Amino acid sequence: MRVLSGIQPSGIPHIGNYFGMMHPAVELQEQGEAFLFIADYHSLTTQPEPDDLRKQVEGLAIDFLACGLDPEKTVFFRQSDVPQVAELTWILSTLTTVGVLERAHSYKDKIARGFTPNAGLFIYPVLMASDILIYQSTLVPVGKDQKQHLEITRDLAIKFNNTYGDTFTIPEASIRDNVAVVPGVDGQKMSKSYDDTIPRFTGKKTTRKTIMSIVTDCKELEEPKDPKKCNVVALFKLFADESQLKAMRENYRAGNYGYGHAKQGLFELMWEYFEPMRQRRDELAENLDYVWDILNKGGQKASGEAEKTMIKVRKAVGLR
Ligand code: ADP
Ligand code: TRP
Repeated sequence: MRVLSGIQPSGIPHIGNYFGMMHPAVELQEQGEAFLFIADYHSLTTQPEPDDLRKQVEGLAIDFLACGLDPEKTVFFRQSDVPQVAELTWILSTLTTVGVLERAHSYKDKIARGFTPNAGLFIYPVLMASDILIYQSTLVPVGKDQKQHLEITRDLAIKFNNTYGDTFTIPEASIRDNVAVVPGVDGQKMSKSYDDTIPRFTGKKTTRKTIMSIVTDCKELEEPKDPKKCNVVALFKLFADESQLKAMRENYRAGNYGYGHAKQGLFELMWEYFEPMRQRRDELAENLDYVWDILNKGGQKASGEAEKTMIKVRKAVGLR
């Protein structure tokens, strides 16, 4: 089994990204032969500043390594180190109808939010299909929002195989339904678009201040409170073990326990949870050659795999 996933480098990582995406992605390495890449070609559809893009890629690589990604178990690389995916995108685009792309959510949502569409954004799903098919991936773990892209990928693989003969493995999506949506400080989904995030690796003072700004109701200190309806508890749950959570819930129900106490408890637990990763991250930031070496080696390995598929593809379509 070959498990593959890709992640776009964007924004300052928050604890929603960590629990919703990074932590599950790092766990992939226990499921089979894992490929994980940083989707920098995809990021170009929003035209980031070149220096920002490089920094984001580097930052994400450091974060993944700090969060437990083991380069011995996972082929970890940059999408653009395998330019063959751009070649495959062209070939697959000739089998893709415009109607399918017009119905793709990624495109429709961006337009609805007022972006002027570029052709790259339009064929984004074909690039994603190429990412998956070029490595003959069998399983692709993604968030719910990527389900449609996986359907497009499967359809394209089947169409190619029917047109030109068996070439691609038909991949399965593995949708992470069980990952709860992490609420932000205002109680909506934590998202950089809503500006309600708790960043993972900011300084102690800033982290504490952000946690203290979590919105709660206005119950007085003495009053009993409902742990089920409180954002602080929802966040605390991510870090706490059974007994810590039980104690917090009891404190809420008993009264004489204020939201300030609960927030302090959350802050301490979160700070401790990320402490080893913070240390590892600082070490890696001092050791960038090591980080780039991992990405470069991963890129070489991935490129070798991609080339094997492309030899078949070029031959199948009549280019060689
Ligand atoms: P943002 O909403 O901050 O822009 P992205 O859309 O870049 O975050 O998401 C990157 C990844 O993190 C996706 O896989 C997404 O499913 C996950 N993710 C983002 N926010 C949350 C959240 N609040 N809870 C769970 N997962 C999240
Ligand atoms: N589009 C995905 C996202 O925004 C990232 C991505 C690009 C990806 N290529 C992929 C995910 C291939 C899985 C497989 O989250």
